[in-house]
Formats: sequence, C-alpha cells, structure tokens
Amino acid sequence: MDLRLMEILDRNRQYIKDGKLPIYIPELSKANINALGIYISTLDHQEHMAGDYLYPFTIQSISKVVTLMMALEDQGKDAVFARVGMEPTGDAFNSMMKLEMIQPSKPFNPMINAGAIAVTSMIKGSSHEGIHRILNFFRKITGNQQLNINQDVYLSEKRTGDLNRAMAYYMRNVGVLKGDVEEHLDTYFKQCSIEVTCRDIARIGGFIANNGILPETGERLIKEEYVKIAKTFMVTCGMYNASGEFAINVGIPAKSGVGGGIMAVVPGKMGIGVVGPSLDNKGNSIAGVRVLADLSEKFRLSMF
Ligand code: DON
Repeated sequence: MDLRLMEILDRNRQYIKDGKLPIYIPELSKANINALGIYISTLDHQEHMAGDYLYPFTIQSISKVVTLMMALEDQGKDAVFARVGMEPTGDAFNSMMKLEMIQPSKPFNPMINAGAIAVTSMIKGSSHEGIHRILNFFRKITGNQQLNINQDVYLSEKRTGDLNRAMAYYMRNVGVLKGDVEEHLDTYFKQCSIEVTCRDIARIGGFIANNGILPETGERLIKEEYVKIAKTFMVTCGMYNASGEFAINVGIPAKSGVGGGIMAVVPGKMGIGVVGPSLDNKGNSIAGVRVLADLSEKFRLSMF
C-alpha cells in the first residue's frame, strides 16, 4: 500500500455519497458503491497501489480505446474515419441525437456508444472470432491471461441494450454499419463486460503511455500513429461531456466506464487505473475524477 495514494483516496471518499450506481444496466447496480481503489504502473516498472485495487469491475467504455486501436490496425485510418467522426458531441455517451446531423451520416466520435459500435464492427472477424481476438488482445496488453467476460453483466447489457440496438440498426440503414447488426452488438456487449481490476487498466494505460509497445517485452503491437489518435480522443472525448472540465482539472488523457473505472495515461511515464462505482450524472466515477485531480496536482501530471 502506498500511503500517499491512500491519503488521496481517503480525502475523496466523501464524494461517493453524491453519486449513484447505474441502473440502466441492472447488473451494474449490484456493485459495491463504496469501493475506491487506485493502481499505478510506471514505464520504469514500479507499481504503486492503494485501497480496493483488487476490486473487480467491468471495463465498459474504457474498452472503446482499445477496440479503436485494433480497428485502425485492421482497416487503416482512412477506412475507419470514413465511418466515424473526430469531434466531441457535448452530449451524453448514449445520446442518439447527433446521429442524423452530419451528411453523409456517421457517429461523431469513437468514444460515444454509436461510434464505438461502428468501430467494433470494423474489427476483422468482429462477428464471430472477433470477441476472441479482442479478449486475447486485452490479455496480452494487461499481461493477465485470466481476463474474462462477466457473463451476468453481458446478459444484463444484452437484455436491456435497446438504445444501442436502435442506434446500430439506424447506422446499418445509412451504411455506417455493415453485416449482421445483432452479431456486432453481441461483440460490443461482450467487450464492455470484460472484468478487470485497477491493475489491468493501469497496464493498458502503461501500454498506451509507451506508444503501443509492451513495456515488459519491448514488442510493438500498435503503430505509434494510431496510439496518438487514441490518446487524442481520450483528451477530447474520453470523459464525454465532462472532457473539458477534466482537461482543466486533471490534464491527462483518460477514459471512463460506467463500471466505475477510469484509465488514465501520463505519456512516456505511466498508466493509472482508478475504480469507484458511484457515478456522477455524466456517467463518470464521482470520487475517481476527484482522486485523479488530486493526484495530478500533487505530482504535477497535467500536460497543459
Ligand atoms: O453501452 C453501454 O451503455 C455500456 N456498455 C458502456 C457505456 C459506458 O461505459 C459509458 N461510460 N461512462
């Protein structure tokens, strides 16, 4: 346990009561609202941790950063951005409002649900072996061979995912999504239901901080150009319609998920994983955001 990190967690526990567990995916409402943990994995192989860093939660939208890098590797930049945009929306992560607003129609960016579903559909073999490729890739970049899908959360998402389903069918109608919509959705629900700990997402953050090279082995898995794109989306859209405020208060690339996780990256230095399932009204971990703000201030992490 790192005492400096423990102190930052303790100082921010007070915010947990101001947030809520998500109920739109019923299984997520069973999480421990009081869990709060952090894990830091530096590129010079130091590990720092505190609190509930072993608490398991589903990765949710944090997975979107990884699937974006996979789709870029599989299809190239031009093909991916022919079907998904590069701009923040200022709307909620599951909003469908802007889907009709660009001509030709495409989701605004790969971090909102519509954009992420489109991106997943572009991963090679997305409909059948896709989830195996995705899961294997996550195992590789976390170094955790035990990583798996939480079946209860997956089934809960699948049962209640009508908004995602509606957007996916709309996108097929306008040609953004091709093939079997239900199969692409199934892969998306599964990727969101991968169960992780703070350590796993800190490792993914470390891989991104290292520009797509595994810090342990030196193996390059993603082109530097594509990692740069992923980091940029984390800054502009990673915290959805709170991305501007997060950039001011924390100032590093980050991605949140409704499982309560936040993955943050200090380029060239470290990956950070935080968990706190109590969410603010934008779907970000309410205490997690504060923890990262304190950490950034204390260790001068902001890029700006
Ligand atoms: O599709 C959904 O709504 C969820 N599987 C993921 C959303 C999410 O994590 C948004 N993040 N804060």
